[in-house]
Amino acid sequence: MIDPCTVVIFGATGSLTRLKLIPALYRLDVAGRLHEDIKILAFARRDWSQKKWIEEVTSMLENRRGSDQGAFKRFCRRLLYLRGDLTKPEGYQTVKEKLDVQADYPANAVFYLSVRPADFPLVVEKLGESGLSNERGGWRRIVIEKPFGSDLLSAQVLQKGLDKHLSEDQVYRIDHYLGKATVQNVLVFRFANLLLEPLWNRNYIDHIQITHSETQGLDSRGGYYEGAGALRDMIQSHLMQLLTLIAMEAPVSIDAESLRDEKVKVLKSIRSIPPNAVNAHAFRAQYAAGSIDGHNVKSYLEEEGVDPSSTIETYAAMKLYVDNWRWSGVPFYLRTGKRMAAAQSAICIRFKHPPHRLFKETQTKLMRPNWLLLGVQPKECLTLELQVKDTGLEMKMRTINLDASYRNDDDDKSDAYEGLLLDVMEGDHSLFLRYDEVEWAWRVVDPVLKSWSMDRDYINTYPAGTWGPRGTYRLFDRDDQFWRHSLGLDGANVGDEAY
Ligand code: BG6
Repeated sequence: MIDPCTVVIFGATGSLTRLKLIPALYRLDVAGRLHEDIKILAFARRDWSQKKWIEEVTSMLENRRGSDQGAFKRFCRRLLYLRGDLTKPEGYQTVKEKLDVQADYPANAVFYLSVRPADFPLVVEKLGESGLSNERGGWRRIVIEKPFGSDLLSAQVLQKGLDKHLSEDQVYRIDHYLGKATVQNVLVFRFANLLLEPLWNRNYIDHIQITHSETQGLDSRGGYYEGAGALRDMIQSHLMQLLTLIAMEAPVSIDAESLRDEKVKVLKSIRSIPPNAVNAHAFRAQYAAGSIDGHNVKSYLEEEGVDPSSTIETYAAMKLYVDNWRWSGVPFYLRTGKRMAAAQSAICIRFKHPPHRLFKETQTKLMRPNWLLLGVQPKECLTLELQVKDTGLEMKMRTINLDASYRNDDDDKSDAYEGLLLDVMEGDHSLFLRYDEVEWAWRVVDPVLKSWSMDRDYINTYPAGTWGPRGTYRLFDRDDQFWRHSLGLDGANVGDEAY
């Protein structure tokens, strides 16, 4: 059982709290994973009463509460709303008083910064000045959501502020992708199965694709997205983390430092992109109006909070090389986009062709390569595509898949935040980013960000509901490489024409 603690959520009236934090804490409570003395203190500027806060929480848990009224009442007893201004010391003093003096608020504390990234430095400063970050009475941990800065320089500045008031082991940098089941399964799959290891390198792997596509647009996040764009929002963080897990060497143990040491080694090995090669390594685009599931949807430029002349990218793709012994010469293609044809996150690994084309004189004209497919969401799956001889007298081949999926659709799926919140309370850093990971990931994308920021006159577009513009194919090293959109067998048999 975890220690009793007080979870203080700064910015508690925002969408992260509504959609992720409160539902995750509630589910943990229902599952009996929260110590009975844990308290949840919501800190926000709105002039809300405790009654109003409970009403809000009730609506956040709508459809999630089930019929267990007792559980909901118990959860509500943990809650307290505290009106406060992030910029003023008074609110922090009130929190301090609760933690230091009031026996019913445990002195161990998690400070969850569910605030605008621009406010991270301010809140860290105030936590330091008020003495809240001081661990004399109990542990004090701070959770920061990505983005950690908006480029290398701002990440370094943010880190300086953290260093001033906190030690690295008090800081939990969340990348919620690391909390997803299939993402964690990448490690098990790679390091608990000997049979893959001999194949897991440049001798057998042709290239690797990591995709996160969404059909959604911006909802109401135009303000944030205008300062971010797809490269910062998804690639620098989530997709780069997936890349490290696929590419890393086996760590000496699975403790947090050993794991993160290996991930950093991968990031350090990524070949840097010189300014004159940005176009060969990165592609950006923005969605125009189109149709999703038969409904017309507006263009990015028409979204709320977006500058009508914005050239911010909603689609970004990159080609990266990990210059080390294992991966030399193997391209890693990363792509992400909003308002695309389907919502899907997946890692697709394409193997090379056999060295000798033994069947070239038969009716099998073109032999398909093997693919290993790891579906992250919505379908969590693990599939290996192989060639078999088709039935009949001719020597014809067909692709089949070995489906090693380990979950049924109706299995209970916990949200990534549940596990990550528990890890914070337990003091386990394994699934959180160490500062050097953040810094090296910025080093990879920084040249592209710089080049794109200087080139703000034009951006390619793609109709909403499609897989992105044709131009993205220029990233591929060879003509027989193409984006793999589907994890089904139809995905293996399409070529370049299916973009
Ligand atoms: C967030 C990004 O970090 O991840 C969002 O800011 C994106 O733009 C989201 O939609 C995707 O996460 P998930 O868990 O829905 O795949």
